[in-house]
Amino acid sequence: MTSIVILTGAGISAESGLGTFRDEGGLWAQHRIEDVATPDAFDRDPARVHAFYNARRAQAAEARPNPAHLALARLEAKWPGDVLVITQNVDGLHEAAGSNNVLHMHGELSGALCHACDHRWPAPLVMDAQDACPACGARATRPDVVWFGEIPYHMDRIDPALSSADIFVAIGTSGNVFPAAAYGQHARRMGAHTIEFNTEISSASRDFADHRRGRASETVPAWVDELLAT
Ligand code: OAD
Repeated sequence: MTSIVILTGAGISAESGLGTFRDEGGLWAQHRIEDVATPDAFDRDPARVHAFYNARRAQAAEARPNPAHLALARLEAKWPGDVLVITQNVDGLHEAAGSNNVLHMHGELSGALCHACDHRWPAPLVMDAQDACPACGARATRPDVVWFGEIPYHMDRIDPALSSADIFVAIGTSGNVFPAAAYGQHARRMGAHTIEFNTEISSASRDFADHRRGRASETVPAWVDELLAT
């Protein structure tokens, strides 16, 4: 049975009102990565890092899935083979749309993590540097997201999924952040048919056999309709 692996990035949530990182006016134009998204930044100024993620959590709480998220959930429900979504996004829009098989390789805004004892629990809407870990009491609670310089989550499940994928698609990702940026190349070498969905040419475009240009809210539902009709 044909297995489908889907990598998603900030572009799939753009039409739900969540900002991307590298587009004009994106998050990395407004904030420096080294101030808000590294372990050093958190050690130096945890309040600033929490403020950045608190703002994103508040924005994500208001966002609703768009037709691209909904189409992927429909694909998972109807496709006879495996459908796995690997997302770099820290929002919960795939789950809100109804996808169950989702790996958050860069963590989730909805999670809190204790730096001291690795305990995890649901994050409150507003996190604070003075919050105590409910398990060990340490005041070392951080958002359960992956920062630059840290190893992404779920690598043990992602590698075999890429190797055995029959179809690999990347949706709304610029191909600048590794290891995700190399997944198209890896899956293609392992024999997958590769398709990229993006409004523009990305840094990883050359690794894909097929390209669907346009907004994900239009191109992704059309592709899912096509697949389910075969
Ligand atoms: P980027 O902001 O780098 O790229 C977003 C991509 O989506 C761009 O290639 C856009 O052209 C495309 N795009 C924008 N709107 C779109 C739409 N409506 N339909 C289709 N495509 C659209 O975001 P990511 O590639 O997800 O990591 O960024 C990867 C990682 O870098 C993030 O997970 C985050 C960031 O720094 C960490 O914070 C560790």
